[in-house]
Amino acid sequence: MNIETVMVIGAGQMGAGIAQVFAASGYQVSLYDVDQKNTQKGIEGIDKRLKKQVGKGSLSAKEYEEIMERLHLANEITAAQKADLIVEAVVEKMEVKQAIFAELDSLAPSHTVLATNTSSLPITEIAAVTTRPEKVIGMHFMNPVPVMKLVEIIRGLATTDEVYQAVYETTKKLNKTPVEVHDFPGFVSNRILMPMINEAVFTLYEGVANEEDIDQVMKLGMNHPMGPLTLADFIGLDTCLFIMETLHKGFGDDKYRPCPLLRKYVKAGWLGRKTGKGFFTYET
Ligand code: NAI
Repeated sequence: MNIETVMVIGAGQMGAGIAQVFAASGYQVSLYDVDQKNTQKGIEGIDKRLKKQVGKGSLSAKEYEEIMERLHLANEITAAQKADLIVEAVVEKMEVKQAIFAELDSLAPSHTVLATNTSSLPITEIAAVTTRPEKVIGMHFMNPVPVMKLVEIIRGLATTDEVYQAVYETTKKLNKTPVEVHDFPGFVSNRILMPMINEAVFTLYEGVANEEDIDQVMKLGMNHPMGPLTLADFIGLDTCLFIMETLHKGFGDDKYRPCPLLRKYVKAGWLGRKTGKGFFTYET
């Protein structure tokens, strides 16, 4: 199983980062988004980040040129016809992901591996809409992708050892550390992280402390590099809510009930850093 050409679907904060690390590791990458403005914005973000590295001397001008040459903007999803591996990073909604996987399954060659960067949704359920569940796998990168070392590799019920091994080796080539995880809601990372974030929102909701102080307690008291509310803004409050709903539905336990304040912020369009307002305010 030879992976040389990669397609990334969704050019938001995760998709653009994923495209960048593949291109930086020598892969040919096409980046596609349903909204072409986002693809353009994604490529511009990559360009800016790489130029910063050139400025700091950690990347040569030649390497910058080569990485940018390996990155291609795809106007159509039919670019899937040329990919050995496709990584989907669109909104965290099962029906959206399933529609994309069904389309990719009909377009991509039979050898193509279909991976999803989902934070919490069952891989097996996404795979079920394809005719190749054995080639569907979870590749859960962390945010920001170019910086964070971990990738959770999630096996669906039907994922073969050969596909798992190919994705594992590819992850290592990206200079990341793969960890094998089985297919349960939230995997390992978000099963542990999201209830903590949700509890921080409840703490705010119940007036136990204000935003700054909640974050300060976790930073200074627990040695977390970032407070939970700042982290929630960074991840995106919509994504946090989708993940809590997946945990709640998947385990059926009330301890995963999303905080009403989180729902309220998402309804208001306060999605965190990406919209300029969440628990804190940001310049956009
Ligand atoms: P985002 O909101 O920044 O980007 C999503 C992108 O998908 C948007 O550009 C949107 O136009 C595009 N899109 C929506 N529907 C589409 C379709 N049908 N076809 C093609 N493109 C489409 O979201 P973000 O944060 O990048 O998250 C994407 C995925 O990555 C989600 O599944 C999320 O759970 C997962 N994830 C997010 C992390 C985070 O910290 N934000 C961390 C790890 C995984």
